[in-house]
Amino acid sequence: MKVELKCISCGAVFPPSMVIYTCPKCGSLLDVVLSLDELQGVVSWNVFRARCFNVWRYRELLPVFDDSKIVSLDEGGTPLIKCDRLAKWVGARSLYIKFEGANPTGSFKDRGMTVGVTKALEYGAKAVACASTGNTAASMAAYAARAGLKAIIILPWGKVALGKLAQAVMHGAEVVGIEGNFDQALAIVRSLSERHGIYLLNSVNPWRLEGQKTVAYEIIDQLGGAPDFIILPMGNCGNISALWKGLKELLELKLVDRAPRLVGVQATGASPVVDMFKSGSEVFKPVENPETVATAIRIGNPVNWSKAIRALRESDGLAEKVTDEEIIKAQQMIACLEGLGVEPASAASIAGLKKLVEEGSLDANSTVVCICTGHLLKDPEQAVRASRQPLKVKAELDEVERALSYIISTAHALPLPSS
Ligand code: F0G
Repeated sequence: MKVELKCISCGAVFPPSMVIYTCPKCGSLLDVVLSLDELQGVVSWNVFRARCFNVWRYRELLPVFDDSKIVSLDEGGTPLIKCDRLAKWVGARSLYIKFEGANPTGSFKDRGMTVGVTKALEYGAKAVACASTGNTAASMAAYAARAGLKAIIILPWGKVALGKLAQAVMHGAEVVGIEGNFDQALAIVRSLSERHGIYLLNSVNPWRLEGQKTVAYEIIDQLGGAPDFIILPMGNCGNISALWKGLKELLELKLVDRAPRLVGVQATGASPVVDMFKSGSEVFKPVENPETVATAIRIGNPVNWSKAIRALRESDGLAEKVTDEEIIKAQQMIACLEGLGVEPASAASIAGLKKLVEEGSLDANSTVVCICTGHLLKDPEQAVRASRQPLKVKAELDEVERALSYIISTAHALPLPSS
């Protein structure tokens, strides 16, 4: 299949053999452009559904040239779960969660890494690098390990959740924490990659987004059609860009008859894209000192902001920001009402939905899919802080009964063995 890299601003086109992340002419972001004409009539839901349910089910739409180099951990194929109890709390009629925490390293990043690390091998790279708020680091470290590549990770010191850090170091990555934020870490790793020929795997890398777009295919595949809205958190804004690209490809291939409207959610302390979209401005203003409990999306200068704005505008979408309190409340409700453990950034999608329904900007009768991007265990410290603490008592039945007296008195639903 013919594949090109195309600048989203000046339209310049480059061959896929060039190792570039941005346009060499004007510096803007690049899109991977597939010639879908060649696939009309070749791909269909029947063709896809005859295969395993993972990212590679959609092989024809993934621009990898050497199958023998594919680095996979059976990523994707995550559950789409109908959440009726949560829907009631939110005030919506029909709500699904796409549970990306079920990916091999516990976040949606694995979809992008399977393609990104495969590309690294195709290009002959020996080392890969990224800046990260944690999940990209965990995922890249795992896929690099599987591929036998060296992994270099730059993190904002003290601002990465414990589970993610544990993964990065256990998979053998070289991890450096900087006394600064993610945006600074990204600027540093981009220079590092350029100076030393290390393959960059942040979401500025357009190949990574090719893997991430499969979440769009899966949602339509699982629902058997388009929902009215897809809601997701935005950080560096790679995911919303990838989601929209995937949906547009399905439209072009006539594998879906309409596009869902996209909703991007950010935390109030890190909301440059939401602010720009809501104001209708053409000028992007980064947030200098981003802050939120949802450390995954603690980003003030998202590299893909222009692709995100394009996705929101083209899909007739919405954007909303939510407070840390709203995020934590949503995280607790998802956990307690549905049994789904998600990290704070992921809960932002549900918090955003609730706000939009309450404001009346999102019709409560819509069918909504919220993407929950990462697993609860990514940030165990925050989960414990936000929850009721366990009681500690002596190892005696009486003591345990006393500690549980309230719950025992209200929950004796089963007949006792003697009766
Ligand atoms: N949710 C989670 C759990 C994330 O880890 C991220 C991003 C996002 C949402 C936002 O996605 O950047 O594509 O808009 N985490 C990156 C990282 C920045 O380094 O792990 P995005």
